[in-house]
Amino acid sequence: MSVNHGANLYDLSNKYGFTKDDFLDFSSNINPFGTSTLAKEYVINNINMVSVYPDPDYINLKESISSYCKCNVNNMILGSGATELISSFIATINPKKAVLISPAYSEYERELEKNNCEIIKYFSKANNNFQIDPVDLIDCINEDEFDLIIICNPNNPTGFTFSKYEIEVILKNTNAFVMVDETYIEFTNTDIYSSSSLVDTYDNLFVIRGTSKFFSTPGIRLGYGLIGNNDIKNNISKNLDLWNINIIASTMGEIMFKDREYISHCVDVILKERDYLTQSLTFFEDLKVFESKGNFILCKIKSKKITANELRSRLIPKKIIIRDCESFDGLDEYYFRVCVLKPDDNRYLIDNLRQVFI
Ligand SMILES: Cc1ncc(COP(=O)(O)O)c(C=O)c1O
Repeated sequence: MSVNHGANLYDLSNKYGFTKDDFLDFSSNINPFGTSTLAKEYVINNINMVSVYPDPDYINLKESISSYCKCNVNNMILGSGATELISSFIATINPKKAVLISPAYSEYERELEKNNCEIIKYFSKANNNFQIDPVDLIDCINEDEFDLIIICNPNNPTGFTFSKYEIEVILKNTNAFVMVDETYIEFTNTDIYSSSSLVDTYDNLFVIRGTSKFFSTPGIRLGYGLIGNNDIKNNISKNLDLWNINIIASTMGEIMFKDREYISHCVDVILKERDYLTQSLTFFEDLKVFESKGNFILCKIKSKKITANELRSRLIPKKIIIRDCESFDGLDEYYFRVCVLKPDDNRYLIDNLRQVFI
């Protein structure tokens, strides 16, 4: 796997002689509570379903998603993770020139490059806490002819998040397609920050949602895209494989989106723990901590006492993996990112950081 992603636990466990489960993975931004027990038990008790093809129209799954994110079933495309939707949307609209808000998740750039698209990066700045003024972004967009604007919301790795109102201001001021990756949206107040309701109004908006992070299901590869533009929706769908969502992913999806108790428990604990981690990290004078609306927090070792890579190496024997963020364009060797894990694990991380920074 590319070095541009969270930890490759397969590789690390071979290298260090630990099992994959021994590690506390603060690098992959995955909900530490695992997936919905209701969904897991259903799969275990009905495992013979693997001998049946999934419903090619995924009617039950789409209805479950529709009631979960209050969106129209007809505006939905299912994908094998957010990854397949990022890739197929970009391939379908085949942009010539795109604005990429940076630093951001690296796959957008890879997909744009695959399609020979010219990329103009709009950098959010550390000295502005990586906040972005939509008016300044619009000025940049209007300086040239772009066919696509890519926004990761909340942004991985900075944690900055546009409100739905701000996304709407951007949409009103451009004819370019706007792709909003909402992989981490469940860690925000979705009424304020999610753009999913805007797809009914704006033909140039594509909202992508995954399940890997919040529902802790990266292994089943399930994501969905929301789009009101029928031509683009049909063109994306035409190029997707029949049965692109396997029966375990589709069945789990039908159940987990409706598991309200699981959803509210995860939101409650993770948001409390994000506050705990933010405050505890802020306490270290060596660090600058950036406020995040995701389940991860970006930090800079402002004292330059140690690089992020050295810090990562010092923590691995303690079975802690953090994300060294040097590979993100716009960040340097002193940036690292940690995600929120369970309460005891977060305290273990802080105790170990104390040994380095105090
Ligand atoms: C912003 C963002 N989008 C998409 C993905 C990939 O998601 P999926 O597993 O749903 O393909 C990631 C994974 O780290 C991510 O951080």
